[in-house]
Amino acid sequence: MKTLTVSQLLEKDSPLSDISAQGWIKTRRDLKNQSFAELNDGSCRKNLQLVIDNTNPQFSALLPRLVNGAAVKVSGDMVASPAAGQKYELIVKSLEIYGDCPQEAYPIQKKKTSDEFLRTVAHLRPRTNKYAAMLRVRSELSYAIHKYFKDNGFFYVHTPIITASDCEGAGQMFNVTTFDTAKPLSFPVDKDGNTDFSKDLFGKKTFLTVSGQLEGETMALALGKIYTFGPTFRAENSNTYRHAAEFWMIEPEMAFYDLYDDMDLAEDFVKKITLHVMKNCADDIELFAKFLDKDLPSTLANITENSYERLAYTDAVSILEKENSKFENKVSWGVDLGSEHERFLTETYFKKPVIMYNKPKNSAAFYMKLNDDGKTVRGMDLLVPRIGELIGGSERENRLDVLEKKMEDFKMNKDAYWWYLDLRRFGSVPHAGFGLGFERMMMLVTGISNIRDVCCYPRVPGYAEF
Ligand code: 4AD
Ligand code: MG
Repeated sequence: MKTLTVSQLLEKDSPLSDISAQGWIKTRRDLKNQSFAELNDGSCRKNLQLVIDNTNPQFSALLPRLVNGAAVKVSGDMVASPAAGQKYELIVKSLEIYGDCPQEAYPIQKKKTSDEFLRTVAHLRPRTNKYAAMLRVRSELSYAIHKYFKDNGFFYVHTPIITASDCEGAGQMFNVTTFDTAKPLSFPVDKDGNTDFSKDLFGKKTFLTVSGQLEGETMALALGKIYTFGPTFRAENSNTYRHAAEFWMIEPEMAFYDLYDDMDLAEDFVKKITLHVMKNCADDIELFAKFLDKDLPSTLANITENSYERLAYTDAVSILEKENSKFENKVSWGVDLGSEHERFLTETYFKKPVIMYNKPKNSAAFYMKLNDDGKTVRGMDLLVPRIGELIGGSERENRLDVLEKKMEDFKMNKDAYWWYLDLRRFGSVPHAGFGLGFERMMMLVTGISNIRDVCCYPRVPGYAEF
């Protein structure tokens, strides 16, 4: 007897005899001679309707155990359903219970529960329709990203998770050490009384990476177009709906690209991966639109159908300064724009995605290419409704002397970046890249409003359960 997933069974779209399915019961209702149960196995949003002859003593004995969350295997015949609601149903001929589910203790009840509560049972929340849909979209979105790059001639590279460099220079890094942190007094010390990391496993101070960009650049300057897709870590104490301490980032890096090519790629990339998910996760997207965010279809249309505004930072400031009364943090040239300003531009002013470029050099990372005005750099941010910054990227400083001067201004230890500077010593070329926050992209395509609910197990300040 063949075992199929619910998704495979419902796709067949024809009667089938002697097949098996397995999964978890969602609901059951009993009529006089028949019971109906809904079986879901996570393979798709839809359930398989099971029809059980409850006059058969073999089944009636098991029936009380067929409750929400119970794990079962059923076999029988798929036949056209006489009732509305589903095209096919499974007439059960044999039934086996893998695992019972005691109702009093089971945290996943049929009634609507809050996201906050479900976070405390994150190991079971994939059993809910919403989180199963989220996880399927997460998987499909990952595939869409790999497919986009594959189709466009990029190579997938794996940059290190443990690193000795601070790409963003923001000092938001988690330390990595083999020293027993429960016993700081046992750390070896050098002659100045500082912890002696030369005695640590790597012989130097190391961290969890905040970005694979710097290593990615080294690969792009040999292979042309590359991308990374991996976990990144930020030790910033930001307790917001869009910050996590651990998140996944996609970072393409392209030799011979300038800032304008970079912005064009970012726009095309976001549109194509969104379209892929809309097409391949239509059922799940419909669930989000129905139960979570009624504006989701218009958000998705906005993202995929509009051309994204290109807005120089200086022009953004001119727009925002006129609206200063609306903002908590007032805008003037040189300030780092915050989420209230980003969201005003994309949601209220342009009502579509905005790519803001040429930012002031003082609030930008060291690697961004200096413009001829000496005040701005060729950095860009893609801003989208509801989220604000979805992508950050730039053309990279490819001139050795300018980069060295920048690193001195930023008080960086140039010696530690000898390998990064080598790229500008040997066959330097114009190049550019960007980073897309995967969880923020998930929030955009699902309408889920908190980053904690698009991760399997969120890592945010004060919380690392599971
Ligand atoms: O703007 P960021 O810090 O840029 C970089 O790390 C560059 N090295 C990328 C590059 O040019 N290769 O981060 C890129 C994106 C942000 O736009 C945002 O979407 C996401 O990563 N991001 C976060 N997502 C969730 N939680 C956080 N704490 C995030 N910090 C950044
Ligand atoms: Mg940024």
